[in-house]
Amino acid sequence: MLIARRKGWELPESAATPERFFFDRRAILGGSAVLGGGLVANGLRLSPARAEGDPSAGLFPAKRNETFKLDRDITPEDVNANYNNFYEFGSTKRIASAAEALKTRPWRIKIDGLVEKAQEIDIDDLLKKMPLEERLYRHRCVEAWGMAIPWTGFPLKSLVEFAKPTSAAKYVRMETFMDKSVGPGFRQFWYPWPYIEGVTMAEAHNDLAFVVVGAYGKPLGKPFGAPIRLALPWKYGFKSIKSIVKISFVTERPVSFWEKLQASEYGFWANVNPNVPHPRWSQATEEVLGKGNRVPTLMFNGYGEFVADMYKGLEGERLYT
Ligand code: MTE
Repeated sequence: MLIARRKGWELPESAATPERFFFDRRAILGGSAVLGGGLVANGLRLSPARAEGDPSAGLFPAKRNETFKLDRDITPEDVNANYNNFYEFGSTKRIASAAEALKTRPWRIKIDGLVEKAQEIDIDDLLKKMPLEERLYRHRCVEAWGMAIPWTGFPLKSLVEFAKPTSAAKYVRMETFMDKSVGPGFRQFWYPWPYIEGVTMAEAHNDLAFVVVGAYGKPLGKPFGAPIRLALPWKYGFKSIKSIVKISFVTERPVSFWEKLQASEYGFWANVNPNVPHPRWSQATEEVLGKGNRVPTLMFNGYGEFVADMYKGLEGERLYT
């Protein structure tokens, strides 16, 4: 039985507020210097989402889809890229340097389970087939901080159509790479590697469900989960799995990484709801990353018009944890 160890986000709300981070950042940015094309200060890479050398660079920037509006400023790239949850590279927010070890080419994605034909596809072949666009999305972490990102990618439903699942498929299960020689986090043996997440077929077909391959007008930076991750902006951030290597269509509800570790705190649905507290802190407000102020958290993170209908009739489920 896996025991409840203290994770980064198993903190009281006061401690989850990353005030220390902002004080640190002010000091760091004050003393930063431009070195060899990237800002590097105190050992932090400040701008790792680079296009150089990435074979998909020519596809960026993609045209913005104006349907998706923000209620706040875009989080500066350097703030976002130095405050990440990517446990494969460690359980602090400062994984940017370690994540540079991730080799994103060649990168193949296996598609299997209840599909007409199982297949494996190279990321660059997939990119040629998918309709790339930019979307401005809010992101709400279960730790009670939020940000806004210009993602580039394509609808998850386009990938589902490409995969050709059979009518028996009920869920899409996704899996992150697992290479112990690349990620120091894999040495933390108490975590149930690999990172797994899942959505229902209805969620996978929802207009908002987005497969991300770029950010800030460039191919996806490694700390963000290069070369391919998910963005489900109405759900807590842990549902947005990074660096995906396998997509399976299944009948059984996938048990995610965090659910395996602590089911009472991190469930399957994990829809954002300010009125349902995490067992150890409130979800009513969130810290705006990069600004330091707190704002009220919105139901479904403000995306109710797109997603609320999917959950009608499911009130008996733990939809918000
Ligand atoms: N995916 C993998 N493979 N590993 C992780 O640790 N962390 C999740 C999610 N996807 C995580 C992951 C969590 S908790 C959050 S909040 C977001 O990624 C963070 O995305 P960001 O670092 O781009 O902000």
